[in-house]
Amino acid sequence: MKKIGVIFGGMSTENEVSKLSAASVLRNLDKEKYEIYPIYIDKEGFWFTETEDSKELISNIVEYLNKLDVIFPVLHGLYGEDGTIQGLFELLKKPYVGCKVLASSIGMDKVYTKIIFDKAGLNQAEYEYVRKYNEKYIYVDKNFNETILGIEEIINKITENLKFPMFIKPSNSGSSVGINKAEDKEELKKYIEYASRFDKKILIEEGIDGQEVECAVLGNEEVIASPVGEIKPAEEFYSYDAKYNNSKSQTLIPANIPDEISSEIQKQAIKAFKAISGSGLSRVDFFVEKETNKIYINEINTLPGFTNISMYPKLFEEYGIEYKELLTKLIELALSE
Ligand SMILES: Nc1ncnc2c1ncn2[C@@H]1O[C@H](COP(=O)(O)OP(=O)(O)OP(=O)(O)O)[C@@H](O)[C@H]1O
Ligand SMILES: [Mg+2]
Repeated sequence: MKKIGVIFGGMSTENEVSKLSAASVLRNLDKEKYEIYPIYIDKEGFWFTETEDSKELISNIVEYLNKLDVIFPVLHGLYGEDGTIQGLFELLKKPYVGCKVLASSIGMDKVYTKIIFDKAGLNQAEYEYVRKYNEKYIYVDKNFNETILGIEEIINKITENLKFPMFIKPSNSGSSVGINKAEDKEELKKYIEYASRFDKKILIEEGIDGQEVECAVLGNEEVIASPVGEIKPAEEFYSYDAKYNNSKSQTLIPANIPDEISSEIQKQAIKAFKAISGSGLSRVDFFVEKETNKIYINEINTLPGFTNISMYPKLFEEYGIEYKELLTKLIELALSE
């Protein structure tokens, strides 16, 4: 039997979401194949062994991880999905589920994701990139030339290049935290300042009026793509609240889009995964523009939500791989690297 460490919680805004994902993973892992070691990281970064009735601090993390055969990080967001914990596993030479350091950090950083997607020729919303710098902002153009500007000049620069509505996002964030939609210059200013509280790197994108669809991918070199699913946010966009607190947000599998659009999305999902140098799994999110049916890639999530009602496992269930088998496949992919 392989000893598997399932790490969850974590020092990110998605600690709670991770607990839900991990509860499903722990329940469904094949107990005949794996000896399971649940590990909880609290919001302060302390590690604990966690069984049903006891919780004990792990004082020597390296020693603890070294006795395991493989690790499944069921973590979302900063310090879990961004390559940092993956770096620890690399140092310890421990196989682990999912993307490696590079793919994880690209996938977590919305600006760098866009740069790679551009390079891959994937269609995406027009965007601008600025960085907060003391009381000013640095405008970074597509060739990485930098200009220091005041907020008013930044607003002018952005509105010269992009059309409203715009989405303002901290580059490193997750679960829609810090993201807002601006309809005019006033709001743009307010939301850039707001986003800068979460990350000094800020992405501003043109809004796409379309359906939100998602495709799951699985594999290392030989990558398969799931059917495409659709999310119908109960609010104006898929905010944190719409994701986790509003039960009216719905998912639709398969998505209500023409077959040829679905197969194009599957191709692009695999391309995006390869472009960031992905391995194991990812969920790739797109918009299909109303009227034109044009496809825009939005983002790639290297450790997507993993409860048994989350999109990633549901999409593979539709493909024909049920939850338990999916976990086994992911672990086998990790061990085969
Ligand atoms: N360019 C855009 N046009 C229209 N809607 C957008 C755009 N960008 C973001 N949105 C809306 O905002 C939501 C959150 O944005 P996004 O998916 O980029 O970040 P996130 O979900 O926080 O990232 P993560 O999935 O890593 O947690 C999207 O699901 C979508 O509803
Ligand atoms: Mg998203």
